[in-house]
Amino acid sequence: MSTDTEQADQLTQSSIRDRLAPAVVAALDSLDVFDVVESTNDYLRSKAAPEPGRLVIALADYQTGGRGRRGRTWLSPAGAGLCMSLGWTFPEMPADSAALSLASGVGVCRALSVLEPAGLGLKWPNDIVAGGAKLGGLLIEAQGEPRGAFRVVIGIGLNVEPVGDLATLFDEPGSLPPVGLRSIVGGRHVARNELAAAIVNAMLDVLLEFQSSGFAAFADEWRGRDAMVGVEIHVSSDQRGRDGVAVGISDDGALLFEDEGGTHSVLSGEVTLRRAVAEPDS
Ligand code: BTN
Repeated sequence: MSTDTEQADQLTQSSIRDRLAPAVVAALDSLDVFDVVESTNDYLRSKAAPEPGRLVIALADYQTGGRGRRGRTWLSPAGAGLCMSLGWTFPEMPADSAALSLASGVGVCRALSVLEPAGLGLKWPNDIVAGGAKLGGLLIEAQGEPRGAFRVVIGIGLNVEPVGDLATLFDEPGSLPPVGLRSIVGGRHVARNELAAAIVNAMLDVLLEFQSSGFAAFADEWRGRDAMVGVEIHVSSDQRGRDGVAVGISDDGALLFEDEGGTHSVLSGEVTLRRAVAEPDS
């Protein structure tokens, strides 16, 4: 992925399409690139679900109603980030479906790793982090029947350019401050069309692997990127909150944390920090 030239970096369908792997091109039903849309997740959810094995993709330079998890807003100034969604239909509900956001985080890290970003890591369940700051997040929205096809829209938001004033909007206690990808690749320019294609290419592999093997195929790679082990956290799950220390994840993607009562696991919930995460050395 080239990073060293400042160039017109308008997202375009052709620039992205030219860089897609042959397997992605073969599976692709649609690739929509908007200057402005309310939310790429909402756009794909408003369309018919793709058939199993087919892929639909939407990107936007700017979202007027970008959404994060738990009803939060996702803010990304025009031209400064990557806002994309992938639509996919599993023929049936995959094993460990709750861990799809973790597997998708692995996919995004695989795509980013060629840039050698400093301190790239993952925070359970859906954050892409670097050096104690939030680089991006995943919003996975699913519709399925227990015994039928399972449709997902996977939303990926990444900060690319330095976050500037955005940082002042993220001062909730316990939440991570934002960081832009460019700031952790030595200030080099990151070509967003290349980045988008690299993520889509990585994500098709993730979806196929998750479909056949569930989260087991990703657990060790996720653990290798776990930015939270040993960190004091607050876990909100099932209307209750508990303090503890993160100790990792289980093979099915549940968060493991310890308190004086022992080790606990939660499959879905929210994690905030009780202390800032240490900056990495690099
Ligand atoms: C989070 O960290 O809470 C998840 C953020 C997900 C943001 C992305 S941007 C593309 C897609 N469209 C949306 O409205 N949200 C996701």
